[in-house]
Amino acid sequence: MGRLEGKVAVVSGGGSGIGQSAAAALAREGAVVGLLDRNEAAIQETARSLGEAAFPLAADVADETSVAAAFDEVRRRHGRLDALLTYAAVQLVGEDAPVHDLELAVWERTHAVNLRGVFLTCKHGVRLMIEAGNGGSVVNCGSPTGVTMSGGGWAAYSSSKAGVMGLTRTMAADLAGYGIRVNGIVPGSIVTPLTQPLYDDPETRARLTALHPIGRVGAPSDMDGIAVFLASDESAFATGAHFYVDGGISVR
Ligand SMILES: NC(=O)c1ccc[n+]([C@@H]2O[C@H](COP(=O)([O-])OP(=O)(O)OC[C@H]3O[C@@H](n4cnc5c(N)ncnc54)[C@H](O)[C@@H]3O)[C@@H](O)[C@H]2O)c1
Repeated sequence: MGRLEGKVAVVSGGGSGIGQSAAAALAREGAVVGLLDRNEAAIQETARSLGEAAFPLAADVADETSVAAAFDEVRRRHGRLDALLTYAAVQLVGEDAPVHDLELAVWERTHAVNLRGVFLTCKHGVRLMIEAGNGGSVVNCGSPTGVTMSGGGWAAYSSSKAGVMGLTRTMAADLAGYGIRVNGIVPGSIVTPLTQPLYDDPETRARLTALHPIGRVGAPSDMDGIAVFLASDESAFATGAHFYVDGGISVR
């Protein structure tokens, strides 16, 4: 029997990278998974590859009407939500910068998806969890850039991730009484479409690799184990915590 048998999950950013890999891992463990992403073609294709275990939820996390409609669809289909993984984000490579060089529009676009998007996804996902009355597990995605000096040069992205990590702790305090646990994951550098532009430059690739004491950067599947653990009842005593799965980058 799978570790997530009978559970309904939603993964934002489920059309690519870490979210797509996590969605497949949750489905392998028996969960039914809603893939919430603005890239419709990607979630259609991912859902097809996962068969009956997955369904697409086309939505823009920065837009409340769109997010609310996605969770209405989950409500209509399943009437419950057990696990919510909020992984959708942007990192505006070539535009993000230190504060004194940062355009307001870049700050706004980054925060609209990365922080407002997590807020809206949690707001409507948690409402469904509370309504269904079965408790649940929320997993938000932070970053070493939010809490270490590895965030230098990325004022918009890094501050959005610090915001998400703060929101995670606040939510854990507010939702414990409903049986809803809220934790964060902190990935190291993972090669995905989000970060591919960085890896296209051999010097940057070498520099990023050297930052990880473990001697390599990560693949999306390196983040699957923590996602399954936190979505499952195996992590029943964990809430308000951040789980670093980062090749050691945060402690060097
Ligand atoms: N890749 C890394 O090195 C790394 C490191 C630390 C943290 N993270 C975090 O991991 C998470 C996943 O990143 P990834 O590398 O897999 O990225 P990715 O670009 O491969 O996937 C992100 C997904 O989010 C979706 N998305 C973007 N904006 C959206 C919006 N407005 N509405 C709905 N969907 C939207 C994209 O369509 C895409 O499918 C992000 O939160 C990212 O900040 C990544």
